[in-house]
Amino acid sequence: MKNLIALVLSLLISQAVLAEGVGLPLEDADVDITDLESLKRGARIYMDYCAGCHSVKHMRYSRMATDLKLSEEQLKAAGLMPPDSRSLDSIEGSMNAEDSKNWLSVDPPDLSLVSRARGEDWLFSYLKGFYVDSESPTGSNNAVLKNVGMPNVLWQLQGIQRPVFKQIPGEGEALDKLVIDHPGTQSPEQFAAAVNDLVAFLAYVGEPARFDRVRYGKFVLLGLLALSLVLYRLKAEYWKKTATAP
Ligand code: HEC
Repeated sequence: MKNLIALVLSLLISQAVLAEGVGLPLEDADVDITDLESLKRGARIYMDYCAGCHSVKHMRYSRMATDLKLSEEQLKAAGLMPPDSRSLDSIEGSMNAEDSKNWLSVDPPDLSLVSRARGEDWLFSYLKGFYVDSESPTGSNNAVLKNVGMPNVLWQLQGIQRPVFKQIPGEGEALDKLVIDHPGTQSPEQFAAAVNDLVAFLAYVGEPARFDRVRYGKFVLLGLLALSLVLYRLKAEYWKKTATAP
């Protein structure tokens, strides 16, 4: 029990520390993991822009095919599964450890559980929060993860963001807002929708069981309703008999 309390407390504290962040408040993601089209769009962005560095070891292509209601051939044709992968393979990053050490100062983490560790709003804000920073080795920094080691991989879609700082008396400079300097191929609304789909995909891989829960939940509710009706009839029957007894 003590362990449980300690765990809950440490989670609360880490959330508070995360929320404090670097300056910008988190934006709200609007994720619906039962929306299969959104998950497919998110999976596609993941495969195109993230799978080069990150893995999602807890997710197998066979599971993804079942959940997204696609055959393996359709997964491959949609670019959601590399042509040389097999159905029981998990989603592996294509960069080997040696390369990532040479190119990046930090190893790209596995993203299986990142939605649970960080939360959907954090991911949404993080993926929208890259901005130019000439002092950073990757050329960019991030509004919610200061001195981030990940390059800004979605800049072509989003465009390039420039930070605007404000002075806080007694504390110095803090990030005020981000403004788009060079527009990308998507409008801010389109980009927010794309990132939302990507976060939905990460939320789904973080807890595919939640996906089942939502899906089967309505059958369970219907079952319970049917059971209540039967029990109600049974009760009515039972009391009818005892009430007429002398
Ligand atoms: C060029 C390699 C590379 C690509 C491509 C890449 N990342 Fe990363 N990513 C990294 C590295 C390196 C880190 C570690 C950053 C750090 O800790 O400072 C990271 C960190 C992250 C984190 C933060 C994890 C945490 O909890 O600290 C998330 C979330 C993430 N990446 C998501 C993505 C998504 C989504 C994409 C695709 C849009 C993507 N990354 C593409 C290299 C990459």
